[in-house]
Amino acid sequence: MVSESKASNTAQGTILSGMRPTGKLHLGNYLGALDNWVRLQDDYRCIYSIVDIHALTTVEDPGEVANIQPNIHEMALDWLAAGVDPERSIVFIQSHVPEVMALHTLLSMVTPLGWLLRVPTFKEKVRQMDETEESVNYGLVGYPVLQTADIIIYKADTVPVGQDQLPHLELAREIVRRFNFRFGDTFPEPQAKLTEAPLILGLEGQQKMSKSLDNHIDLASTAEETTQRVLTAFTDPQRQRRSDPGRPEVCNVYSLHKIFSSARDIDQVYSECTTAQRGCVDCKRHLAGSVNDFLEPLRERRRELEEKPDYVREVLFEGGKRARAIARETIAEVYEKMGLGQPV
Ligand code: TRP
Ligand code: SF4
Repeated sequence: MVSESKASNTAQGTILSGMRPTGKLHLGNYLGALDNWVRLQDDYRCIYSIVDIHALTTVEDPGEVANIQPNIHEMALDWLAAGVDPERSIVFIQSHVPEVMALHTLLSMVTPLGWLLRVPTFKEKVRQMDETEESVNYGLVGYPVLQTADIIIYKADTVPVGQDQLPHLELAREIVRRFNFRFGDTFPEPQAKLTEAPLILGLEGQQKMSKSLDNHIDLASTAEETTQRVLTAFTDPQRQRRSDPGRPEVCNVYSLHKIFSSARDIDQVYSECTTAQRGCVDCKRHLAGSVNDFLEPLRERRRELEEKPDYVREVLFEGGKRARAIARETIAEVYEKMGLGQPV
């Protein structure tokens, strides 16, 4: 059974964040977001959402639809294995709270189309999908309105996100200001809380770690898979021979050592690399060892959770019930303020 949330330190307010259900998460997702989510649980009331309705904004074929449920499950396993704690936080699936779709519609009454068409992520998506602003689905244009609804339906005031989401948060605040001005003070203006994390480059050392570029290491990968992947990492391109001194400052393997290896090991890598006392293959094996040590406890918890799919579903279901109770109160207030009377 999942018990009621323990009283936690709510002095700093309510956090809401979400991720689209993309399946297994990788080290970049962990260091860029998840690790921070876990720590925030000490100081905030936290609500974490698997945003499956947002995933539908870009679904194009039945194959992708078939992936939604497995992707939700895999992501939930990673969240819980990483330490997102359903005893302290609300963890749930967005579509379990249909009220968010009602709020999305109501917020669309105070959202000028021009604001949405100017959002950089929207323009980018249109380009990526090889569409035009005229041909994309209405749902994609409204993506940030739904995101605003996600946040404010729980009256969250703080939203941990990466840099790329700042325009969405700015828009959320503008929607809130308009709503509050037109219908009376109802919602706090949500503030972005930027995640301070080093940019995690992929194994080729050029671009951000991402699943689509296949330059990532899954949190759930085995020790052998992790080692094999780390061995494919690019190193200092100017270091041709073992006897050439290397340049750790331009080598992504060294950047990763700085995250996963001990202070002593980091110093050792630096001095042995710059004096040609260590080969790149050995250096990568060493890194693989550090990454594996780091991931092992997480993998262990994940394996336990994999044995209990019903428990994971129950966590999400209970989280959905708790989220929904809050959402229903907000919707009743919004109905009232917008002159709609009471929802049945
Ligand atoms: N748009 C976010 C992303 O792509 C996901 C998201 C949806 C979200 N709703 C949210 C993030 C609410 C924070 C709060 O990463
Ligand atoms: Fe990079 Fe290590 Fe090779 Fe130096 S020895 S170039 S830090 S992989």
